[in-house]
Amino acid sequence: MTVSITWHGHATLSLSADDVTLVIDPYFAPDNPAARTSVEDVAADYILVTHGHGDHVHHAERLAALTGAPVIAKPEICKWLRAKGVKDTHGMNTGGSFTFPFGQVTMTPAFHSSGLPDGTYGGEPGGFVVQLEGKRIYVAGDTSVFSDMALIGRHGLDVAILPIGDNFTMGPDDALLALGYLKPAVAIPYHYNTWSLIEVDVEAWSQECSNTQPVKPVVLSIDKPYSL
Ligand code: NI
Ligand code: MN
Repeated sequence: MTVSITWHGHATLSLSADDVTLVIDPYFAPDNPAARTSVEDVAADYILVTHGHGDHVHHAERLAALTGAPVIAKPEICKWLRAKGVKDTHGMNTGGSFTFPFGQVTMTPAFHSSGLPDGTYGGEPGGFVVQLEGKRIYVAGDTSVFSDMALIGRHGLDVAILPIGDNFTMGPDDALLALGYLKPAVAIPYHYNTWSLIEVDVEAWSQECSNTQPVKPVVLSIDKPYSL
C-alpha cells in the first residue's frame, strides 16, 4: 500500500492511496500561476479546504461539481459552498477528528485569517492531520509557527507540509523552528515561489534543514508524486 503526495503548486496537494485521492486546497492552472494541471484533469474522492482565502478555496466548487467529492472544511466554508450548489460537505472544527472511510482527519489550529473571496466570514483558519494507510501527514495550511505544534506532533508524524514563503505565513527560519516542535520524519515545503512576494531559495532552506534538524527535507517538483 503506497501513499503518495503530489504538489500541484502553491498550496494545492493531492494525497493518494491505492483506492482514494484527497485534494487539499484546490487552486489549479491557469488561475494558479504555479500550477500546470487544470481542475478538469484532477481526480478527487474528497476535497479538504484549510481556510477561506481565494488561493485555497478557488476551485473547491468546480472540483466538487466535476467529481461529486465531498468537501471537508470549517462549517462556515461548507455553508458558503452549499449556497453555491455544492451538495456534499462535512463540517469540522478545530481539535475535532472524524474517521472517514479512508482514515482519520483531525482539524488543527492555524494562526492566520480566513475571509472568503466575497468577504463572507470563513471561520477560523485551520490545517489537517490526515491518516492514510497508517501514515500521519500534517498539512499546516497558512499559519505562523506556534509552540503548540508540539501537541500536533505528539503521536508522531511521517510528514509535515509547511508554508515557507513568508509575508502571508511563516518564513523559512520559522518553518525550521516549527519542525523542532513537530518532529516529523519528512518535511515538505509549500506556499512559496508562486509570486515574487513569497520567493524563497528552497535549496538553501533544504540544506539548512538538513544541517540543523533531525528531519529529512523533501522539495517536491510540481505534479511529480512523492511516495512514502
Ligand atoms: Ni491564506
Ligand atoms: Mn495562502
